[in-house]
Amino acid sequence: MNRMFADRISDVPKSFIREILKVAVDEEVISFAGGLPNRALFPVKELKQAASQVFDNMGPEALQYSNSEGLLKLRKFISNRYMEKSGLSIPVENIMITSGSQQGLDLLGKTFLNEGDDVIIEEPGYLGAIQAFSVYKSRFNPVKIHEDGMDIEALKHVFPGRNPKLIYTVPNFQNPSGISYTEENRRAVAEVLENKELYLIEDDPYGDLRYTGEPKSSFKQLLPDKTILLGSFSKTVVPGFRLGWIVAPDDIMEKLLIAKQASDLHTNQFAQCVLSAYLEAGDFDVHIAQIKKVYNHQREAMIASMDRHFPKDVHVTKPEGGMFLWVSLPNQISSMKLFDLAIKNKVAFVPGHPFYIGLTETNTLRLNFSNVDADTIEIGMERLGRALKELLANS
Ligand SMILES: Cc1ncc(COP(=O)(O)O)c(C=O)c1O
Repeated sequence: MNRMFADRISDVPKSFIREILKVAVDEEVISFAGGLPNRALFPVKELKQAASQVFDNMGPEALQYSNSEGLLKLRKFISNRYMEKSGLSIPVENIMITSGSQQGLDLLGKTFLNEGDDVIIEEPGYLGAIQAFSVYKSRFNPVKIHEDGMDIEALKHVFPGRNPKLIYTVPNFQNPSGISYTEENRRAVAEVLENKELYLIEDDPYGDLRYTGEPKSSFKQLLPDKTILLGSFSKTVVPGFRLGWIVAPDDIMEKLLIAKQASDLHTNQFAQCVLSAYLEAGDFDVHIAQIKKVYNHQREAMIASMDRHFPKDVHVTKPEGGMFLWVSLPNQISSMKLFDLAIKNKVAFVPGHPFYIGLTETNTLRLNFSNVDADTIEIGMERLGRALKELLANS
């Protein structure tokens, strides 16, 4: 161990997905591994127009240092949208623009977590959250999720033995599993947490990408004083701008602003100005509708291809939105073994174990359907089905 590095960085594993993506760079490999939005849907022309408008109308102001809270116009847009879409009244003072929602996770870690502090996290859970909180050397309390949401008995079981400060959730179209918490499950989670001293993080980068089913209550409605919301423009506009936001109560926002200043003073001013001009000029909802149409088509194509090519005892979640499907293999067959065979068959996915705390092997895996067109999905699923049948025949 190099004495020069801090424990907080030496103890955090590299992103497993990044490592896996290196294996999948071979041009012939069809990759369902990454979590990339589809670049064919990026509004390049509209953003170019918005950028030129910003140069023409704002000039140097768009290139100057700015405030840590973020561009007021953008925060107003977010506030209005919460009201319009879910009837949530969120004053602009409670919104801070962050460098992606990933920075929101880091700032929450910085603000709340001392070494050894307990955090409840969904299992399987978002790798970026595991990584962000690991830097602050928190102790994870994984709580299993099922197709209807969090395992309520397991959640109750955390108390009173542990005293978690934070609980991390992705209730809509979860990464990695694609599942959503049902309305009943959300209410049950809220009931368990109602009298506990902790904050619930509702990370919602996929909420706008619903293809079927009805929208559900936000935890902000069920536990208004305890909920911290994270949002993102990565999946609805472009990830490269790195623009997201945090919604937090006044006293927390005060601390988050200090954490933000210590990290980077403020989020990229030019990107905020361009995004804001784009949102003002264009029709955001029409753009989102277009994304939903394409992703839903690809989601359906993937499910249909799996029906055709996968053995019947392989279980797949059928998400109502988002970008991922979650596969469970029969008889505890290792998805890492399948991965090796899949790469030989020129198809890639993410094996499930990095999404769990402290597991090195599972029978689960994640498939992304946003970044590959329907025809390629069919070829990829045929290859993966072949690898699966070969593995099952030999086990
Ligand atoms: C659940 C979840 N949270 C946060 C992020 C990070 O998104 P952003 O680009 O806004 O930092 C992702 C990205 O894949 C995600 O899946």
